[in-house]
Amino acid sequence: MEHRFAENSREGLPERVKRWQQARFGMFIHWGLYAIPARGEWSQYGDGVPAEEYEQYAPQFDPTGFDAAEWVALAKAAGQKYLVITAKHHDGFCMWDTALTDYNIVKASPFGRDPIAELAAECERQGLTFGVYYSVKDWHCRDYPTRYTYRTKRHPDGFHGRPKDDADFMKYLDYMEGQLRELMTNYGRIGALWFDWYGDAFEREDERERAREIIGMVRELQPDCVVNDRLGGVGADFATSEQTIPGSGGAEPFEVCMTVAGSWGYSADDTVKEGAVLIRDLVDVAGKGGNYLLNVGPSEKGLIGEAEASSLRELGRWLEANGEAIYGTVGGPSMRWEENFAAVTRRPGREYLHVDRWPEDGRVFYNDFPRTLTSAYLLADPERTPLPVDLHHRSLMIHVPAEAPDPVANVIVLTYEALFSDLLGRNGDARGRTRSAVTAG
Ligand code: GLC
Repeated sequence: MEHRFAENSREGLPERVKRWQQARFGMFIHWGLYAIPARGEWSQYGDGVPAEEYEQYAPQFDPTGFDAAEWVALAKAAGQKYLVITAKHHDGFCMWDTALTDYNIVKASPFGRDPIAELAAECERQGLTFGVYYSVKDWHCRDYPTRYTYRTKRHPDGFHGRPKDDADFMKYLDYMEGQLRELMTNYGRIGALWFDWYGDAFEREDERERAREIIGMVRELQPDCVVNDRLGGVGADFATSEQTIPGSGGAEPFEVCMTVAGSWGYSADDTVKEGAVLIRDLVDVAGKGGNYLLNVGPSEKGLIGEAEASSLRELGRWLEANGEAIYGTVGGPSMRWEENFAAVTRRPGREYLHVDRWPEDGRVFYNDFPRTLTSAYLLADPERTPLPVDLHHRSLMIHVPAEAPDPVANVIVLTYEALFSDLLGRNGDARGRTRSAVTAG
């Protein structure tokens, strides 16, 4: 028989990955010079803008509205436990005070402040884990080869703002290593390093060897830092999925990154997702055992748009009542067609059924519940009023109130006697009891 409980175990994973998985939900921030043209972070590429022209944004960049405390407070209000910001995106502009290029916010912009330092300090103060995004691809650094950039009809041979025929990728990797050394040394604890895009790079063994050395340095400087899979897969603690939620969760740790608006970097005419959409996506991802990294794109003034902020706060309010079913859980069994809930998450002794469409007939059906049930109640109900339940061998029928307590998503908690480890084994405990109601434990 197909076994639905073998997925999403954390056994055998490094501690840093387990901790990161428990956090479940983070804020992604795409912020840089591209906030000025306000057409997303790919505008330099899209318009084929040469570096000397694009560089003109730097002296205009003065985001006086930037307030690290506010951004971090918003992430907290949204229920996010970590934050990952673009230290350098593909345009090559550095958002920290790097000694390796003057093309950075402190030296090239009137703003003169280091947002990476301010955000790192604020995360530490407000108790969030801080992480940085670093684009391997670089349209500004001369040693980054054009052949390792993205090819499209518009740019069939790739695009570089300052192309150099004899660009030396190994030299670029020295530059990258130096920059990462700064980021991993000067900004306190770093919990996540999010590489982006490798294209055709790291296919050669000498390049992969350098990548391994760089990861070795990161591990030494920041042993608790998780690393994603976009440095040619070298050092990968987790897989990434972009703007899509995979059909089912596998055994591998993974993170789904998505945008609250349409694009990653600020775009003036973007539409913003409603809080309800974000809640459903978070539930979907958590049910598959993944992490959810949700992006905002602040403006050139350093402000996160009110529409984005309000959707995030709505999600945060939902998490205040229902967070127990998200944080620290693992993904549950995959859905069966006859079951009318959207996802299951679990922790030892408990399962959480996420009911998105409230049943008109007042019944929620769980086809395969191979345990001894001790209680069933709605997570958002502070009284934990027991829900009447019929349990026939393995089939569980839960009777719910006519009105959905939450208009978007509701969680039914099932507590049971079986030990968590039992569920991970091949043979689930098939004891079932028939009861008409159970008492809340
Ligand atoms: C894509 C985009 C890039 C963005 C990233 C986030 O790779 O090209 O701009 O930073 O997604 O995952």
